[in-house]
Amino acid sequence: MDIYEAIEKRYSVRDYAPKDVDDDKLRRVLDAGRTAPSARNLQQWKFVVVRDAGLRKELAHLSDQPWMASAPVIVAVVSTKPHRIMHCNVPAAPVDCAIAITHMTLAATAEGLGTCWIGHFNQHPCKQLLGVPEQMQIIEMLTVGHAAGDAKVDKPRKEFDEVVCVDRFA
Ligand SMILES: Cc1cc2nc3c(=O)[nH]c(=O)nc-3n(C[C@H](O)[C@H](O)[C@H](O)COP(=O)(O)O)c2cc1C
Repeated sequence: MDIYEAIEKRYSVRDYAPKDVDDDKLRRVLDAGRTAPSARNLQQWKFVVVRDAGLRKELAHLSDQPWMASAPVIVAVVSTKPHRIMHCNVPAAPVDCAIAITHMTLAATAEGLGTCWIGHFNQHPCKQLLGVPEQMQIIEMLTVGHAAGDAKVDKPRKEFDEVVCVDRFA
């Protein structure tokens, strides 16, 4: 699958089949995150792979999203240095981690797996549950698994000219 096909095919999967994710596939997905670019190549991240059913259920509960527990894998993407600000006055951690997650979502699509970003979760109890050190932060979580239903075809997006302008902001 080429990159454009993966971009087109990726969508948020919120219902997963009761089928485990193959270790090799998951390894390739995580490796796509590991090899992502980051500011100054500092790679200040850690990917906590949650397969344990009890922990997944608890993460789903702490995120107020019960469907999450149906995913056989939840990856918590942790920034090990969450408060670093880049020269442009923008925090590095969410940018770096979002790139890694994007790599993982597209690799997962190429592997025939579905994913969904999870930004709606309770930070402190999720950190405690997974033993994430206090000074670190879970930036996002990612559910991974085999989609239970048909692929979503409708992807509502703004029109090209509404989001792209040339030379000057308009
Ligand atoms: C940073 C971020 C956080 C998100 N958090 C959640 C979430 O907590 N729960 C959820 O169901 N979807 C979540 N999503 C998925 C978005 O709702 C979804 O990507 C968007 O509606 C576009 O749909 P698509 O992914 O199917 O193209 C999140 C997406 C991003 C990028």
